[in-house]
Amino acid sequence: MPRRGGPIEKRSIVNVEKVVAVASGKGGVGKSTVAINLAFALALQKNEKTNAPLRVGILDLDIFGPSIPTLMGLIGVGEPALTKTGSILPLTNHGIPCMSMGFLIPSNLTTGDNTDTPIVWRGLMVQKAVQQLLFDVDWSSQDGQGLDVLVIDMPPGTGDVPLTLGQLVKVDGSVIVSTPQDVALSDVRKGIAMLRKVSVPITGFVLNQAFYLCPTCSSPTPRYLFGKPDNFRNVAERLEVPILGELPLVEGVSTSGDGGYPFVLGSVGAVKEAHGAAGATWRDEMLQVAKRVSSDLWNNTSL
Ligand SMILES: Nc1ncnc2c1ncn2[C@@H]1O[C@H](COP(=O)(O)OP(=O)(O)OP(=O)(O)O)[C@@H](O)[C@H]1O
Ligand SMILES: [Mg+2]
Repeated sequence: MPRRGGPIEKRSIVNVEKVVAVASGKGGVGKSTVAINLAFALALQKNEKTNAPLRVGILDLDIFGPSIPTLMGLIGVGEPALTKTGSILPLTNHGIPCMSMGFLIPSNLTTGDNTDTPIVWRGLMVQKAVQQLLFDVDWSSQDGQGLDVLVIDMPPGTGDVPLTLGQLVKVDGSVIVSTPQDVALSDVRKGIAMLRKVSVPITGFVLNQAFYLCPTCSSPTPRYLFGKPDNFRNVAERLEVPILGELPLVEGVSTSGDGGYPFVLGSVGAVKEAHGAAGATWRDEMLQVAKRVSSDLWNNTSL
């Protein structure tokens, strides 16, 4: 518990070396999609010290609208097991462990599914749930080595959850997702101001749905369906936040998310064949984002 009147001391998450949050002040801009693909793209990076692939986990802090169970293909898999000491064991798919409020909501007894069960809670209960997800999950894994990096999928807005995270946990970086529209950018600016207030370092921006490439045209030119990226780039410059990547709008990114298969897991050839140049660009760009994030987390190169 925090000392009365004193500053709250930020804690590390046990068995986790680095924590990176994927956030945005705005809803529906692609935070969960970027979070999940960033996690898998980071897992393709190497740990500089051991030369082994980075050990990555995913934590879904969207208490009211958890997306990670769907995006990870973990719907209807039952409740997580507990350790002897009462910690929650993450669920794993495609080789990456994850935890979400979605795994802890009671299921409908007839359908065995909980996707339609709403969470109707007040602030204090939300804070309690966030603390439990932050501190009561056992990330040590069977071999006890723990994670190099935990990717946290944040809910939209500047409410209790980002505040609780920023106040309680030592967060090493954050990736801010935006789309090009001015309405998204204004919410993103608020989100950044809030993260800065609770001393969460901003790693950089990802501009999602930045452009569209016609999948059947022989040499497609980018179409800016939601506006040109100029305003976004100006905002990034003014806020002194680096741009980590600009991702196109790709139908397959959405369908593979709904199907529980992260888009970056597809091989270069398979992605190109099924989703054309736009799919290949999305995948490449996401891998670049992961490279920049890991460089920043371990401070080995400047962005
Ligand atoms: N680059 C993209 N191309 C195509 N579809 C995308 C892209 N990015 C996101 N989407 C789709 O947009 C929808 C919203 O994405 P997502 O759930 O990741 O957003 P979010 O910011 O996490 O939303 P929320 O604020 O509700 O948590 C999803 O259906 C997703 O598949
Ligand atoms: Mg989301």
